Amino acid sequence: MSFTLTDHLGPVDAGAALRADVRAGLTATPKTLPPTWFYDARGSELFDEITRLPEYYPTRAERAILVEHADEVAVLSGADTLVELGSGTSEKTQLLLESLTTAGTLRRFVPFDVDASVLRYAGQVIGERFPDLAVDAAVGDFTQHLGKLPREGTRLVAFLGSTIGNFEPAARASFLADVGAMLDPGDWFLLGTDLVKDTGRLVAAYDDAAGVTAAFNKNVLAVVDRELDADADLDAFEHVAVWDAEHSWIEMRLRSTRDQVVHVGALDLDVPFAAGEDLRTEVSTKFTVEGVAAELAAAGLRVAECWTDPDGDFALTLATPV
Ligand code: SAH
Ligand code: AVI
Repeated sequence: MSFTLTDHLGPVDAGAALRADVRAGLTATPKTLPPTWFYDARGSELFDEITRLPEYYPTRAERAILVEHADEVAVLSGADTLVELGSGTSEKTQLLLESLTTAGTLRRFVPFDVDASVLRYAGQVIGERFPDLAVDAAVGDFTQHLGKLPREGTRLVAFLGSTIGNFEPAARASFLADVGAMLDPGDWFLLGTDLVKDTGRLVAAYDDAAGVTAAFNKNVLAVVDRELDADADLDAFEHVAVWDAEHSWIEMRLRSTRDQVVHVGALDLDVPFAAGEDLRTEVSTKFTVEGVAAELAAAGLRVAECWTDPDGDFALTLATPV
């Protein structure tokens, strides 16, 4: 097997992006941090744990769809290159790799993620299972580096897990437009989206009984502490998950349990928090099937197929340039 790992981010750029996001987010009202910074090695491990929690249905629902329909995706796309954005462990993606291998078209897999450690792990697992596959992993930011992805061949670009839901609407439209512009006629886009459902189930999925999501949420503070020489006390914040019906998203927040000042050494910045003040760390948008098709159409992509799991919890949409 062949495995390569290309870094489009680099420590200098990654550091600069983190500093810019932390300065902008922690001096804003209300305070925010982008969800990308959850994912260092520990954050990726915690997300992996989340995917196995009884309350967190999206991963199981998306896997169920892939079990049923990965063969159709393979035959319809005829892809020789599978690119996966925000690939994480690529565990479910193995179903696609299996179907594309059986179809006989697949040559190359390009997992793309901001966390290098999870790419190395995925590369090892996939290399062992698919010894004839070229695995060319890339570290980068999918809001900045789509232009670095391979252009040749028939490409299937997968964006699974409903990570699209972690964008706010304007950023989501701009990301989808970039994906649409990057695809050539005959290429394909496979998009996983979590669907609107009962509020109780949604909130439980983001506030699990074992506290894994709370640890994942607080990990963003651990990243800022370590990378930017900050002194946030993780015990002085509590995890909050709320459903915002107006925006159709779950919002994760970290709520300050007391009046405190967090010092960010690398920015020479003091950040005051009042007791009860929230720092928003993530939105997780929940979609409708019709809404997804409309957003894809606005990005120049036509829906070829849209499948849901038997419970109607999650959708997987296969689209191609108009
Ligand atoms: N696709 C996997 C993982 C979802 S978790 C699944 O369906 O289970 C979200 C993944 O996106 C993480 O691995 C995280 O590191 C990655 N990610 C988050 N923001 C990113 C960004 N801006 N650019 C690239 N990858 C990103
Ligand atoms: C990666 N992303 C789609 C997950 C989600 O459900 O929004 C991240 C996550 N946040 C809390 N739990 C899982």
